Amino acid sequence: MNVLVLGSGGREHAVSWKISQSSQIDKLFIAPGNAGTNQVGINVDMEVDDFEAIRDFCVEQKIDCVFVGPEGPLVAGIVDFFKADKAVSHIAMIGPNKAGAQLEGSKDFSKKFMKKYNIPTARYFTVTRENLEEGYAFLDTLKPPYVLKADGLASGKGVLILKAIKEAKTELKSMLDGKFGGASAKVVIEEFLKGIELSVFVITDGVSYKILPEAKDYKRIGEGDTGLNTGGMGAVSPVPFAAGGFIDKVENQVIIPTIKGLKSEGIDYRGFIFFGLINVKNDPFVIEYNCRLGDPETEVVIPRLKSDLLELFEGVASQTLSERDVEFDDRVATAVMMVSGGYPEKFEKEKSVTGLNNVFDSYVFHAGTKQDGPAILTDGGRVLCVTSLGKNQFRALEKTYSNVAKISFDKAYYRKDIGFDLDEVE
Ligand code: AMP
Ligand code: GLY
Repeated sequence: MNVLVLGSGGREHAVSWKISQSSQIDKLFIAPGNAGTNQVGINVDMEVDDFEAIRDFCVEQKIDCVFVGPEGPLVAGIVDFFKADKAVSHIAMIGPNKAGAQLEGSKDFSKKFMKKYNIPTARYFTVTRENLEEGYAFLDTLKPPYVLKADGLASGKGVLILKAIKEAKTELKSMLDGKFGGASAKVVIEEFLKGIELSVFVITDGVSYKILPEAKDYKRIGEGDTGLNTGGMGAVSPVPFAAGGFIDKVENQVIIPTIKGLKSEGIDYRGFIFFGLINVKNDPFVIEYNCRLGDPETEVVIPRLKSDLLELFEGVASQTLSERDVEFDDRVATAVMMVSGGYPEKFEKEKSVTGLNNVFDSYVFHAGTKQDGPAILTDGGRVLCVTSLGKNQFRALEKTYSNVAKISFDKAYYRKDIGFDLDEVE
């Protein structure tokens, strides 16, 4: 099989690394990729939203399967674009079509969907400029803090959590007035849920599904979960608070109704679904859906996958996923993200990365790097993700942190507390 992976982060490096070990792989390309993906495949200088260029490349290289990493091209309809073009309509696309990607692309769509299919989620109300007064009235029925979500994609920044009602009303108005451009022309107001968050992933062929291991992501820049939100500073899989029947509840109350709901809506969803969940007193509620794998969750989930990923992708394409086996490593995986100083605000790039050859017994997934002759340079806020497996998270973290210490670049920063808040995971 010839495979093209779209994207350039740690998620795409981890997925490409896994695909490169498949018994089915012939040629593996990554567009645009990074210095890490180039070690497991061939980078192609092509942007993920340039559908025409991607189509031409797929024809030229006789690509059999495209894995779409980020949400942008899925929400913009890359799958529909391929299906509508005879030259590439046979290609197995791993990722949903535009209709399916609305689960992530429109908060209003996803809330309506959850309500219709009785999937547990926070109470909500959708506001536009036409019914602003009703929005204010709904806010008055809620207790603080107040959750406001831009309906559309806003690079992970479209959610505001506000303590005071006055501030919530002011922000609601400014969102509708274009604070996040067109993405906040509609705003979803939600009841605030208190609990502990986790991410659960499934792969589906539209009929059946396989549940992948759950993970916890550490979103804030500062230790003790303080400071600004980031793309993710680390991850652990599995998580202790998902034990004791919790995942069964997720399967029955969230996963099954979601898969059935998509089918009833006539949506042929083939790819990954990311359930952003919150555990409220041992009951799952959906905070958000994403139409792709998470980053850095993928960097702990994929190293635990023992099965051949391309066999699962074939199962998705031929709707025979139910016949495939999926096996996982019981060990705990921990990942720590090394970022550029200043991230998630202003940071510098093109710093030379050293020490990668000294890493022992951990995986290093590149998130934002580029090759410059023999040198590897930083090329983003999140730079490298160091993942290790261990009998429990403390063993895994020992390995991760000892290898993180061997890697350096100017102004490197990482959190030193990933995983230490959790009870022992075994
Ligand atoms: P989202 O982009 O929908 O995942 O929201 C971003 C973050 O806001 C989530 O990861 C949660 O930490 C928080 N959040 C979103 N919705 C709620 C809610 N209803 N209750 C509490 N926290 C929330
Ligand atoms: N780690 C959260 C995300 O990928 O959206």
